[in-house]
Formats: sequence, C-alpha cells, structure tokens
Amino acid sequence: MSKTIILQAGGGYHNVTIGTRAANAPNAGEITVRLYANSLNYHDFAVVSGMWGPSEPRIPMADGAGEVVAVGEGVTEFNVGDAVVSTFFPTWQSGEPQVEGFATVPGDGIDGYARELVTASVASFTRAPTGWSHIESSTLTTAALTAWRSLMADDHLKPGDTVLVQGTGGVSMFALQFAKLAGATVIATSSSDAKLEKLRALGADHLINYKSTPQWGPLAREISGGRGVDHIVEVGGPATLEQSMLAARVGGHISVIGILTGLAGDFPLVTALIKQLRLQGVLVGNRAQQQAMIQAIDANGLRPVIDQVFAVEDIVQAFQYQETNQHVGKICLQI
Ligand SMILES: NC(=O)c1ccc[n+]([C@@H]2O[C@H](COP(=O)([O-])OP(=O)(O)OC[C@H]3O[C@@H](n4cnc5c(N)ncnc54)[C@H](OP(=O)(O)O)[C@@H]3O)[C@@H](O)[C@H]2O)c1
Repeated sequence: MSKTIILQAGGGYHNVTIGTRAANAPNAGEITVRLYANSLNYHDFAVVSGMWGPSEPRIPMADGAGEVVAVGEGVTEFNVGDAVVSTFFPTWQSGEPQVEGFATVPGDGIDGYARELVTASVASFTRAPTGWSHIESSTLTTAALTAWRSLMADDHLKPGDTVLVQGTGGVSMFALQFAKLAGATVIATSSSDAKLEKLRALGADHLINYKSTPQWGPLAREISGGRGVDHIVEVGGPATLEQSMLAARVGGHISVIGILTGLAGDFPLVTALIKQLRLQGVLVGNRAQQQAMIQAIDANGLRPVIDQVFAVEDIVQAFQYQETNQHVGKICLQI
C-alpha cells in the first residue's frame, strides 16, 4: 500500500483526504514508478479547489516525477532505477492534436500522481533530464511543455525573434527561458516591480509593469522597433488578449493558453484581420514534444525556476499559497 492524496467527489479543499492505494505489479507494456514530487498548475488548482471538481473520488496532480522500480514484459524504453517524469496526455504520442479536453489527463479524467506508487503504461512517462532532482523534473509535464510546444512546435522560433511573456507564473518563466535559449529577445510583463527585477536576472531584455502601464501592447510594439512582437505567450486571457494583439507584428503568432483573467470576453476581430494574426489554441503538448524538450534541456543546462516546495500532505496550503500569486515560477510538492 502506498500513501495517496484522495480528492473526494466534487472537490474543494475540505474534500482533500490522505489514504492509501495499492499499486499492481506491472503488466506487459507498463512500469511501476516510485513518485517523489509533483508540481502545481492552475488546472490542478481548478480540480482540487472544486472549480472543476471531479465527479468521483480522484487522485489529483498531473505532474509527477520519480524512479522506475519495476518494468513489465516487453518494456525496452525504461530500466529499474531510471528517473522519469509524467506525460500530460498518455494517449497523444506525437503529431497533430488528437485529444479534446481532460478525460484522459491524470489528476482530472483519470487518477494522477499525488501518491507514492503508480503502475501505468510506458506512454505515461518519459525519461527525466539528466542530473535533475525529482522536484525539478516535476515542473515539466504541464507548464514547461506548454511553453515549449507554443514556441518551438506551433511556431518555429528563430534567433533574433521577439517573444512576449506575461507575468511570472510557471508557463511564462519556462517560455522566457526557452526563448532566451533560442536566441530571442524577450519582453516580459509583471504586476510587480520586484518580480520584474527577477525577470531581468533570468535574462528578460525589456520589462513592463502591466499595472502601471495598462496599455502595454503599443509599448511592446514600440520596444520591438515598431515592427511588433513575433510570438506572444498569452496566459492572461480576456483582459490581456487585446493588448497582445496590439503588441503583435503583422502575421505574428499568439499562443492562446491561459484563463487567468476569465473564461470569455470581447474579441477584437478587426485587429486580428488587419494584422493577419495567427492565434493558436493550446492544450499542453504530446509525448514526442516532451522528449524533444528534455533533449534541449540536457544540451543547454537549463534549470527550472522553483519558488517553494511543500510536503504532499500540505497540498491545500500549497494551493492556497498559489492563489496569493506571490510565487515566481513553480510551486512543488515533495512526496
Ligand atoms: N492551455 C494550456 O495548455 C495551459 C497549460 C498550462 C497553463 N495554462 C494556463 O495558463 C495560465 C498560467 O498558468 P501558470 O501555471 O503559469 O499559472 P501561475 O503560475 O499560477 O501564474 C500566475 C501568475 O500569472 C500572472 N498574471 C496574473 N494575471 C495576469 C495578467 N492580467 N497579466 C499578466 N500576468 C498575469 C501573475 O504574475 P505577476 O504577479 O508577475 O503579474 C501571477 O503570479 C493559467 O490560466 C493556466 O490555466 C494553460
């Protein structure tokens, strides 16, 4: 039996319980993983807080990292002792998007990784970056892959391109790091001057406080020499989309990722038309993209930005801390 966080049906912090679950021996094509870490995402918050609570009891958390402790028959990709990290879509291996919604996503439609032991298909994991701790690896599944796919797969970022990232959350910090790794110029926004200084230390070239400059879109365009930004990692949602479209260059690419300011709003159709913008809805990414991202991480020595680590038993306090928006980068759980 292994220690397991169980969210009772409906979700909500009062419905978070600690129990035990057995892990089966692996069947053919499966591995058993001793999990040591999770990281928090807004999506996990929505499930655990009850905003999008599950209809039946559910083990939360999509992002899990740990070590392979047993392999089933026919498994050649992993050996006992390998460090691994979970995949967001165990059923989407590669190629064009094939999945709609969260029915196959661990921690939402199926059980996730806030537990000590799991037995799952090989496709539920990839190898972790070389030399990373399990805590570090747990940051990759959702936030990092979303940033990677947006910049490197949906749009092919080139050295010299300009990228705009919004705020200092998990997705944006990885987007900043991947953009710098690719040789791009980065314009970063935040609500806080203190956080902007942290963005500068991480390599951001231009900083905008979106509270003191609410019309930051035209300013970003000006900063990019009047041409406009090539690629925008749009995590804000309805309250930021118009500014993102104003910031973008003609033909610029906007990854429509986040809902931090709400679920729906006005759409400035004319701006989209006259600038011939390319808006791409994003839902994390596939397993092949995760493997490519980890190869790039290994080659470049990148390390994730981790704000705080909580014990898995303190999962509710971790989400309450996330709600305060004090963090920069990722919040993690140690199992
Ligand atoms: N579609 C997908 O595949 C996908 C994947 C991952 C995440 N997401 C979504 O992307 C969003 C960000 O996720 P995350 O995990 O990075 O969240 P997070 O770590 O919780 O990010 C929170 C940060 O966002 C910034 N923020 C809040 N309101 C903002 C605004 N109006 N303009 C600019 N920045 C703002 C704040 O930074 P400052 O304090 O610095 O301002 C805040 O600290 C969420 O809506 C999440 O659901 C989507």
